[in-house]
Amino acid sequence: MSDSSSEPKRGHFAKEKGEVILREHEYDGIQEYDQKLPNWWLFTFYGAIIWFAVYWFLYYQTPTFRTDREKIIAEMTAIQEKKAAELEKTLASLDDQTLINVWAADPAIVASGEAIYTTNCVACHAADLSATMDAGGTKIPLPGRSLIDGQWTYGGKPMDMFKLINQGSPAGSPGLNGALMQAWGQMLTPKQIAEVTAFIIAKNPQEFPVTP
Ligand code: HEC
Repeated sequence: MSDSSSEPKRGHFAKEKGEVILREHEYDGIQEYDQKLPNWWLFTFYGAIIWFAVYWFLYYQTPTFRTDREKIIAEMTAIQEKKAAELEKTLASLDDQTLINVWAADPAIVASGEAIYTTNCVACHAADLSATMDAGGTKIPLPGRSLIDGQWTYGGKPMDMFKLINQGSPAGSPGLNGALMQAWGQMLTPKQIAEVTAFIIAKNPQEFPVTP
């Protein structure tokens, strides 16, 4: 260390490495040193600015990279397409007789249908499918329709039921006391809808007898 560097110079800013300058301004008795910033620091600083410009240009101004929004839309479209394909496959493999004779006649399928029913449908259609709740001897109606009264507002064939559960109440239908049913295809897979349909069929054996 030479004498000149231990005694800081007065001036505006440092011009060379190792130069220690005492800035001329003074606020509230406080003065500042000025020293040249190290090159490695300046390199990362200017590098970050250049990186921002390049990134902004490539990401937002050119089709080089897909933005997060585009990625999410592409992924959601792919999921919708997969679901549509799965539904088409299930519909192609199902018909009224298959639902009655095969699905509803299989205790394992009916049991998984019951589990789906218990989780998703009981609140409005009741555990006994009557759409009523027993409150001290009187029957209070629940929001849904009875699924054991032999009355089917939207068609009484198993495939009608499957489609209604999948798509919900048809557009423009008056509903029941103004209440519509949601499209369960948004939450359940086609297989799960077929299983819950099988459960409803199995609960109406007089209406859907198994045919040999
Ligand atoms: C939030 C209440 C609610 C839930 C939960 C609900 N439903 Fe419904 N459901 C209704 C209503 C309301 C109707 C009558 C809709 C209409 O008339 O447009 C209905 C109608 C139906 C019908 C047609 C009945 C007929 O008479 O034609 C079927 C079948 C059905 N629901 C099955 C299900 C299944 C299966 C589930 C569970 C996956 C379910 N529902 C869950 C409210 C509900």
